Amino acid sequence: MQIVNNISDVRKIIKQWQREGLSVGFVPTMGYLHEGHASLIEAANKENAKVVVSIFVNPIQFGPKEDLDKYPRDLERDSKIVETSGGDLIFNPSPSEMYTEDFSSFVEVNSLTDGLCGAKRPGHFKGVCTVVTKLFNIVTPDKAYFGEKDAQQLAVIKKMVRDLNIPVEIIGCPIIRENDGLAKSSRNVYLNSEERAAALVLSKSLEKAKEALKSGERSSEKIRDIIMGTLSSEPLAQIDYVEIVDSISLTSIDYIENSILIAIAVFIGKTRLIDNFTFKL
Ligand code: PAJ
Repeated sequence: MQIVNNISDVRKIIKQWQREGLSVGFVPTMGYLHEGHASLIEAANKENAKVVVSIFVNPIQFGPKEDLDKYPRDLERDSKIVETSGGDLIFNPSPSEMYTEDFSSFVEVNSLTDGLCGAKRPGHFKGVCTVVTKLFNIVTPDKAYFGEKDAQQLAVIKKMVRDLNIPVEIIGCPIIRENDGLAKSSRNVYLNSEERAAALVLSKSLEKAKEALKSGERSSEKIRDIIMGTLSSEPLAQIDYVEIVDSISLTSIDYIENSILIAIAVFIGKTRLIDNFTFKL
């Protein structure tokens, strides 16, 4: 397993693999890897001859008041996880390697980014789409793996690839959770023990919604009330959004039919956590 910091070196290595006819799977990450990331690397390893993992805390997808400076980093620990999960190469560029001083080109996906995290984090998806496009151009993978944990991100990347004819297949992978249900996240490390216990309210509220849907409830408003009610019972939780949307267009719906995405974002103390599930009729 190699760690490469510069773009021209990573290109050389991957070009050589491709000359040899080897397929390339790609897992973009911001590092501080956990089992969620590992599951993507394992999936990529099963379906491709070579697996590239990028570790880059992308400054342009963070808002001015967000956690760019304190975002957790640990390359040594990450390298071990990449290696044991079946990765062949880590691309770990510096911010200046990715963004020259005169950098001025951006990629934006409209409409799908209007709601959910797009509404709450202005400019976030512009930063994500720009860096993912750059990474796709550098790595030129056959397949790229994204977690359903970031459901809107997955939908936006799929749309971007389709709209811009980027020759890569996007594969969505299921959410990996802690034993008690909390979705794994690099940001969980910010939680103190009291907040860690409180954070369970996210997955609990979604479980309650799932039960109601299974028992036949089809009103978005009622499902939303169930989720909001559960979240509000936790004093450390502050709701950022609770949305019930069509899973393809990501637009709000009143009556539940077809395939829907229920997505929530909640502050536990200062830490913003997200969770979701898709329900198909
Ligand atoms: P990051 O938050 O590091 O996540 C990298 C990938 O891991 C994303 O596709 C995310 O959905 C997936 N992931 C995170 N937690 C997961 C979990 N519990 N189960 C399954 N998959 C999980 O998402 C980003 O980085 C960035 O926005 C990036 C795409 C790298 C662009 O900078």
